[in-house]
Amino acid sequence: MAISNEELIGRADLDDIEAILATSNSDVDATMHEVAANSSAIFTWDYERTRAPLAKLYEKAKTSQWNATDLPWDTDVDQEKVVEANQAANSYLYQSGIDTTGTPFENWGDKEWLAFGVESQNWTLSQFMHGEQGALICTAQIVETVPWIDAKYYASTQVMDEARHVEVFSRYLDEKLSGHYPINAHLKALLDDIITDSRWDMTYLGMQIMVEGLALASFGFMHQMSTEPLLKQLLRYVMSDEARHVAFGVLSLQEYYAQLSATEIRERQEFAYEAAVRMRDRFLQQEVWERMGVDVKQAVKFVLQAPDRPIFQGMLFSKIVPNCKKLGLLDAADGWLREKFTELGVIQFEDWADTGEEYASLDMVAQDREAARA
Ligand SMILES: [Fe+2]
Ligand SMILES: [Fe+2]
Repeated sequence: MAISNEELIGRADLDDIEAILATSNSDVDATMHEVAANSSAIFTWDYERTRAPLAKLYEKAKTSQWNATDLPWDTDVDQEKVVEANQAANSYLYQSGIDTTGTPFENWGDKEWLAFGVESQNWTLSQFMHGEQGALICTAQIVETVPWIDAKYYASTQVMDEARHVEVFSRYLDEKLSGHYPINAHLKALLDDIITDSRWDMTYLGMQIMVEGLALASFGFMHQMSTEPLLKQLLRYVMSDEARHVAFGVLSLQEYYAQLSATEIRERQEFAYEAAVRMRDRFLQQEVWERMGVDVKQAVKFVLQAPDRPIFQGMLFSKIVPNCKKLGLLDAADGWLREKFTELGVIQFEDWADTGEEYASLDMVAQDREAARA
């Protein structure tokens, strides 16, 4: 049965800017957001350790815990200088010869681009912090809902990891940057969807594969681009954990999907696609344009057409696509998701490394400890 983009994502055209911007956070002053979960808490009386790859991951998680105090918080951060240094070090992204004639940026000089860089960083780190809280809540939910003892054990370590992630991003924003942003509406809608779904494996698919896959890729990208040593170290350690989190999703869902029907797999494909579109929409930074006082619609249009857009978009999906492939989601139902990822322009990442095993090589915490002992 063919299902249209309108039914799936509420618009026929992926780049329908009006529809994208129609989703906005109307509750920016709220201090709380309540979501009703529909899932049951599952006890298991089967305590036998039958899932060796999850047991291995659990052991790794216990020995690679770190503390926020391990980071060099006494580093002096001059945000404007950092933004200038980042822009200079990555000039291939910032001076790609984009013609700004007729756009809101036509009259922007260095001062405006610097202010934008600062706001953009405040926004990006704020969204990471909110996303980390989403992960904290989702993994607490997985502890309750997953029926396997090995997975409950592992998920409990992830709850601790995510608490630490919220803590370090929040502290970095407070001590080193210059302002917070409320959660982006597309990210909020995605997190709400993941939390309200009653099927335990959908929490995994939404959080461990989609949200965390994107986080792992964008932390890596930001780590590479950043010239600020404290943030670099923070991201290195957070990524060490995130690689395990994505592996947890891949290892668990591989087993579970093997027993699902074609109809059930198709529902997972649709869920993955909807999540992918929401994440793409959230990266248009509509709140930053608002704060900069430019026409948001024109700014977003400009961003969508920018020559570096495919690189950026590819970066976001470079972990998600190979992991979906590994889970069999690309090719099930006559390649439905393959087609959708082709439309999104991200299918070229299908044969990149998946994250089932990558976590050992990304464990910087273990590597640093090893080096300190030597
Ligand atoms: Fe995290
Ligand atoms: Fe995570």
